[in-house]
Amino acid sequence: MVTPNNDMPPIPTTRYAHIVGWGMAVPETILTNDDLEAIVDTSDDWIRSRTGIKERRIAGETESTASLGLKAARKALQVADILPTDIDLIVVATSTPENIFPSTASLIQNWLGANRAGAFDLSAACSGFVYGLDMAAQSIRSGSMQVALVIGAETMTRVMDWQDRGTCILFGDGAGAVVLKASNVEGGVLSAVLRSDGSGGEMLGIPTVGSEDLYHSDFSTHGHKMHKMHMNGGEVFKFATRVIAESIQQALVKANIGIEDLSLIVPHQANLRIIQAAARSLKVEPELFAVNLERYGNTSAASIPIALCEAIDQKRLNSGEYAAFIGFGGGLTWASMIIQWTGAKTPDARSGINQQRRQFSYMLVRWRTQWKRLNQQVSNFLEQITFRRSRIQRLRDKVDQL
Ligand code: UT7
Repeated sequence: MVTPNNDMPPIPTTRYAHIVGWGMAVPETILTNDDLEAIVDTSDDWIRSRTGIKERRIAGETESTASLGLKAARKALQVADILPTDIDLIVVATSTPENIFPSTASLIQNWLGANRAGAFDLSAACSGFVYGLDMAAQSIRSGSMQVALVIGAETMTRVMDWQDRGTCILFGDGAGAVVLKASNVEGGVLSAVLRSDGSGGEMLGIPTVGSEDLYHSDFSTHGHKMHKMHMNGGEVFKFATRVIAESIQQALVKANIGIEDLSLIVPHQANLRIIQAAARSLKVEPELFAVNLERYGNTSAASIPIALCEAIDQKRLNSGEYAAFIGFGGGLTWASMIIQWTGAKTPDARSGINQQRRQFSYMLVRWRTQWKRLNQQVSNFLEQITFRRSRIQRLRDKVDQL
């Protein structure tokens, strides 16, 4: 504690960022391995034995990265018992944003009615959620913010090359979100290790606006299709198995705890064989890992928060216990984090009122957006009238002078 002078209360110097809310959303439509057999030359047996995946979710016509992210965010706010107007920052980690800009985060900010929040998208592929969580946690720990909403949301099936059996069998759509809140109680986000190796950028990517491919006349320098995902699966596999254990160990050292203290590891859900290899390297039981890739496939930045939500539902984390998150993917990027679990706030007398206020805020959104646009049109119109009037007046003055 620092006491600036005797008249002022002490300023707390130690702040922590706790996860106090969580939520997930996946599309209803299921694409099974059998369904894929009709699309590419593959088999249920191959996909299950090489990846562990049985099925994945596909966004419907009315679903998008932002709409899935919004659903997850609303659930997270409800668990946290927080009003949209309490949020200071919204980060959406995604490789499939709605636009280059406006950001998916800004769309969600508007739909939530989070009128006091800054919002931006974060591009770190499958590591994006852990990157975003660490950025938000550091903003809270520095004292500049109280509440942050971090979302991982993807519609990966929209950037698949459905002729490439090496990638299209792996990915699915979904979103997960957490609310981080400032507290003076020790715990929450304890440490993070973020890393990048751009020299491996060619291993997986989605060429898009500004891509180096644009500088070549055939738009296919490396044989990659614009706006479609490409991956060198074997190389990425080797990279993933190399970095997971090392990165978790580094984060554990920073958090000053040992691997034996962990109650749960939530890995990016890329391939069951990668997770099994990581368990062997870390010398832990594979059961320590939260795994749900058999039902959702690889949902990129959304996979860790979705797996976390399901692990919480299965009561795999109790208050005070430690968990690790580990993401890896395009960039190349990788990121690990150690948290001490807090758990949900017990609902109190205000919770019901807050729920109604959130519902009201969501209802107002459409009206508020239309009202702002109408307001803008009216002021533009009035500005034009004022401008025309002043021109007419100037003309009259000139005529009078003649
Ligand atoms: O989220 C970002 C991080 N991503 C990852 O971590 C993904 C990492 N990579 C992987 O998970 C694996 O490398 C894959 C699942 C993508 C591929 O598994 P693999 O065991 O590395 O297979 P492979 O690419 O070495 O291919 C083995 C064989 C090949 O046939 P030949 O050349 O041995 O005759 C492929 O053509 O399997 C064939 N193959 C397939 N066969 C049926 C490749 N894809 C398929 C398929 N169905 N979908």
